[in-house]
Amino acid sequence: MESLPVAGAKAVDRHLLVVFGATGDLYRQKLAPALYHLVRQYQLTDRLLVLGVARSHLDDDGFKALSRGSIESTSHRQAQLGEPYADPASWCDEVLYFQSIADGEPEAFQALRSRIEAIEAAHGLAGNRIFYLALPPSALGPTVNSLGASGLTHSAGWTRLVVEKPFGVDLDSAMALNETLHGCFDEHQVYRIDHYLGKATVQNLLVFRFANPIFESAWNRDRIDNVQITVAESVGIGDRAAYYDRSGAMRDMVQNHLTQLLSLVAMEPPVSFDAEAIRDEKVKVLQSIRPINPDDVVLGQYAAGRVNGRRVAAYLDEKGVSSGSTTPTYAALRMFIDSWRWQGVPFYLRTGKRLGSRLTQIAVTFREPPVALFKSFERSRHQGNVLYFKLQPHEGFDLLFDVQKPSGSPQLDTKSLAFAYEEAFGVLPDAYETLLYDVMTGDRTLFVRSDEAEEAWRLYTPILEAGITPARYAAGSWGPREAERLLSPRCDEWSVRLPE
Ligand code: BG6
Repeated sequence: MESLPVAGAKAVDRHLLVVFGATGDLYRQKLAPALYHLVRQYQLTDRLLVLGVARSHLDDDGFKALSRGSIESTSHRQAQLGEPYADPASWCDEVLYFQSIADGEPEAFQALRSRIEAIEAAHGLAGNRIFYLALPPSALGPTVNSLGASGLTHSAGWTRLVVEKPFGVDLDSAMALNETLHGCFDEHQVYRIDHYLGKATVQNLLVFRFANPIFESAWNRDRIDNVQITVAESVGIGDRAAYYDRSGAMRDMVQNHLTQLLSLVAMEPPVSFDAEAIRDEKVKVLQSIRPINPDDVVLGQYAAGRVNGRRVAAYLDEKGVSSGSTTPTYAALRMFIDSWRWQGVPFYLRTGKRLGSRLTQIAVTFREPPVALFKSFERSRHQGNVLYFKLQPHEGFDLLFDVQKPSGSPQLDTKSLAFAYEEAFGVLPDAYETLLYDVMTGDRTLFVRSDEAEEAWRLYTPILEAGITPARYAAGSWGPREAERLLSPRCDEWSVRLPE
C-alpha cells in the first residue's frame, strides 16, 4: 500500500478534476484557492490534474494566469500554511489545462472527451474523474445529459459528479433534476454541495452534541425552551441580481444552509459516524417538521440605509433588479418538529442581507429553573442558560451561566464559559477545502442526498407559493419589526451574541 505523505490524511487516488464554469466567480473566488491550498496541505501535486471547462475562448495559458491571480489574492491563508510547497505559478503550470465548450453542442463534448483522454494518457491516469458543475441552475440538467451522451460518464476508473446549490427552485424542479442526474449517475456518485456543511464549526455541531454527554442529556423539550438560528449578512446582492432576483432568501439560504443547521441541531444520534447513517437521521428531522403555517413566516426586503457607516441603496435600486420586485432578501420562520424529543419547542430561523453585521449563530435557550428561588434577587443582568454556537465570525461557543454578583444587595449576573477556535487551533480552513478533499477521498458525509434535497423543498414549496408580501426594513437594521411577532412570550427577542 502507498504510504501517505501527511500523517492522518486520507488516501487520494490520482485523478482528473474537470471544472465546468471555470471562468466564473465560484472557481475564481473559492475553488482555485481551495485546490491550491489542499495540494499544499496534503502534498497532492502528483495526485491531481485540473481541466477547466467554460464557454469562453481561453487557452491553457489564459486559464493558468486566471487561476494564479485567484490564488495569489488569498495570501492570508498562504501565510498560515507556511513555506510554499510549490509556488502558485509552478503549480498552475504543471497541473492546469483548459477546454472551451463554446456553444455546448454535442461536437464540443466529443472534443472535450478527446481532450480528457489525451490528458489522462499523457499523465498515465487510470480514468478517475471528478466532474464539478459550478454552473447556473439552468445549465445543470443539459450539462449532465451531454456528459452522459458523450460517454464521459464511463471510464476505467471511478467517476464522481459535484453539483452546486441551488438544487432546483421548488419540489418539482428538484425531483426533475434528481431524475436527470440518476439517468447518468448512481446516487453514490453524486455530491450535492451545501458549503455550510464544509465549515468546521458546522461539522463540530455533531461532535459537540454526541461526544459530550452533559449536553446531549439536556438536549430535549424538558430542558430546552427554544432554538434560534440566525444567518445574518451585511452584504447586499452585489452583481448577482440575475440569479438573486429569481431566488430570494427562502431559496438562496433557508432551503439549504439554515435547514442544514436545523437538521444538525435537531437530529437523533446516528447509529454510526457513517455518511448514510448521518444522512438518514437528517432526513428524519425534515420528515418530522410540521407543515409550516404561512402566518409563521415573515419576509422582508431591504430599503436604503447605512451598513458599517456606509450609505447603501435599496434592493429595488440594485443594478439588475426588476422594477417593483417582491423578491424577499430576508426571511424569518417559526417551525415545530413533531417528535418525542422536540414536541412544543419552537425553532426560529432568520436570515437576511444588508443586516447590521455578518454573523451566523445558533442560540439554544434552556428553560428557567422550575422554582424561582432567587425571586428576591435583583435580576436586571440575568439571561439564564443560553448556549451560543458562534459559527462565524469569532468561531467558537459561549455558554451563559447565572452567578451571584458580590455586592451589597443580592444580584444575579450572567457570565459565560467560552471557547474560541482561533485561539485553540488557528485560522480555520475554508469550507471548500474540506469539501473538495472529501470528494477526492470519496467521503459523502458532508453532501446532501437526493431525498434530503427533496424533503427540504417539500417543506418550503407551499411557503414559496403562498404569495407572502415582504415587509420593508432599513439596510443596517436587524430586519423587519414584524419578525418579532413570531417569538413566543417566553422569548421576546431574537437572540444573538455580539462581540463585547
Ligand atoms: C451562498 C448564497 O450560498 O451563501 C449567498 O448564495 C450567501 O447569497 C452565501 O451570501 C453566504 O455564505 P457564507 O459562507 O459567506 O456565510
